[in-house]
Amino acid sequence: MYLNFQNRKYMFDKIEHIGIAVKDLEAANELYAKLLGAPHYKIEVVESESVRTSFFQVGPNKIELLESTNPDSAIGKFVARKGEGMHHIAYAVEDIEAAMEQLKADGFRLLNEKPKRGADNKLVCFVHPKDCSGVLVELCQEICDS
Ligand code: CO
Repeated sequence: MYLNFQNRKYMFDKIEHIGIAVKDLEAANELYAKLLGAPHYKIEVVESESVRTSFFQVGPNKIELLESTNPDSAIGKFVARKGEGMHHIAYAVEDIEAAMEQLKADGFRLLNEKPKRGADNKLVCFVHPKDCSGVLVELCQEICDS
């Protein structure tokens, strides 16, 4: 099936980051600093998602490590079920609302109806992994503080 991209209102700009679920953020920070050759540049708690995250810059992309602060959180359940591992791929979009509208029209199930505030100064929305070949997809738009 060929899609008509002529009327596309959005494009994904780039892979913004890859999210990796970990059990112990401090241990994983050390491991990833060794792997990537540079330490994380920030740690951020996202209360609404019950996660502590850290970020590593890798050229133009980022790696986000996520540790749950509550076993009932999405990351807590993920780690309990599957252990540590790749959790999501995040794509940068310029207009998250337009991207969400388009994806919904194309039959993708969104896990949140409205963009929500994520880590690293972003508006985010998640797309159901079952609709993306088993991979949880995050859309993120930079929040411009003006
Ligand atoms: Co993310």
